[in-house]
Amino acid sequence: MTGRFYVTTPIYYVNGAPHIGHAYTSIAADIVARFHRLCGDEVFFLTGTDEHGQKVEQAAQTAGEAPQAFTDRISADFRNMADAMNVSYDDFIRTTEPRHIAGAQAVWEKVAANGDIYLGAYEGWYALRDEAFYNEDEITTRPDGAKVAPTGAPVEWMREPSYFFRLSAYEDRLLELYEKHPDFIGPVGRRNEIVSFVKQGLRDLSVSRTSFKWGVPVPGDADHVMYVWFDALTNYLTALGYPDVDAPRMKFWPANLHIVGKDIARFHTVYWPAFLMAAGIDLPDMVFSNGWWTVEGEKMSKSLGNVIDPRDLVKEFGVDPVRFFLMREVPFGGDSDLSRRSLINRLNVELANDLGNLGQRTLSLIARNCGGILPAQGKHTEADAHLLGQAAVLPDVMKAQIARVALTDALEEAWKLIRACNAYIDHQAPWALKKTDPERMADVLRVLADALRSIATVLQPYIPESMDKMLTQLGVEPDERDFDALEMPLPAGRELPKPEGIFPRFVEPEAGEAK
Ligand code: MSP
Repeated sequence: MTGRFYVTTPIYYVNGAPHIGHAYTSIAADIVARFHRLCGDEVFFLTGTDEHGQKVEQAAQTAGEAPQAFTDRISADFRNMADAMNVSYDDFIRTTEPRHIAGAQAVWEKVAANGDIYLGAYEGWYALRDEAFYNEDEITTRPDGAKVAPTGAPVEWMREPSYFFRLSAYEDRLLELYEKHPDFIGPVGRRNEIVSFVKQGLRDLSVSRTSFKWGVPVPGDADHVMYVWFDALTNYLTALGYPDVDAPRMKFWPANLHIVGKDIARFHTVYWPAFLMAAGIDLPDMVFSNGWWTVEGEKMSKSLGNVIDPRDLVKEFGVDPVRFFLMREVPFGGDSDLSRRSLINRLNVELANDLGNLGQRTLSLIARNCGGILPAQGKHTEADAHLLGQAAVLPDVMKAQIARVALTDALEEAWKLIRACNAYIDHQAPWALKKTDPERMADVLRVLADALRSIATVLQPYIPESMDKMLTQLGVEPDERDFDALEMPLPAGRELPKPEGIFPRFVEPEAGEAK
């Protein structure tokens, strides 16, 4: 059964350059989007940039640029990063676009009309780095006297007139939502954390600021701009054309999946559903949080100078090895460390050896011993049937994993089949059959070609460029690369192109040669 699927990334702050953490969430969402397209679903995949707020305004000032020119430049860099990582977004929303500003104001007006926004004065702790308010009991004092939020961000005492959102009125409804829709928050550890946060009681949320101007004007009160998170969260709706409910893209609402970093789970699972409830708009199905990356065991930071631009890794290793590593290294949802050694190791062992050699061995035997023609399907032995049976169920097994955003587990399922194919080829030894039983040799190679086709098909979302090459080498036409097409065996007799290695081994330049 096919359907519609709407998946989003967070929109990225344009106060600094894109790094590997940003690429990670976008690649994860890309895999989900591409997977659903393979299933035949109509997919809408949104990413973009979050361009308002005091933090961005200050970054523009530091750069000596007008905020709009500054955000134009950095936003273009984020788009370039998404393209470099082969992220197949359908739209890239910028919160400084008129379509977004109008939509954010429309959401505000709905919430206000519901009686859930009132004017008051805010007094409390604010962390600029997080663009977040904190309660007194969340603040700690460092030995040097600095006050910090639980995230380590410095906080400042803020006092200004402000509009408030009546978040306190939504406590019960939020708890009911988490209870009735256990999948709304994933993974489960994050869910427990959010539930206990809400159970401690919610205070009304300051949703406007008067001390700076770089934001969406509050409808009807030009002295205020919206709190950047109110503005930002609405992007998921405004990109669809909201408030025009007849806009063609509105059919994608409610979103099926927001993928977000664990640091912003609270905004997406507490504030966002409460805003939507207040505006009378349907809620998304699921908010899944990914973990954080460190680099060689250290937190990434400008001061340590260890912030990794994913485009540098792509230049050195290629886009697919980087995408693969990020999804393979740790079960999706957990924290992980990027180390050069483990990246190279995975590239050489899993891509070059396990998958690359399997393809190369199979295809070069077909080229050499079968005249480069795809053999017909033969009579299946028990071993053949077993391997092909495993291949046949792979798409459904992975579908179930992807539905719970278990992106690493789904990848492991494909690797189980790759390892089974390697055991099969070693055991059947088709190279030795050429003289003794050429018919059986052709049958074995065909079994391998069929299993490889399944593998390459299901891996397209993860490593699209290389699987495109592999499918071409297997003689699979562009319109035969989705899950439905897998049901149809390839006709025998297709002429296969000359096989070429897809995953070269990476060899570290000799010490001394390295820069
Ligand atoms: N603008 C907000 C999101 C608004 S969504 C309506 C924001 N932007 S951000 O640029 O600071 O962060 C965007 C995403 O990058 C978050 O999901 C965050 O978790 C992720 N990451 C930032 N650093 C990261 C790592 N070191 N590792 C993994 N992801 C990280 O928050």
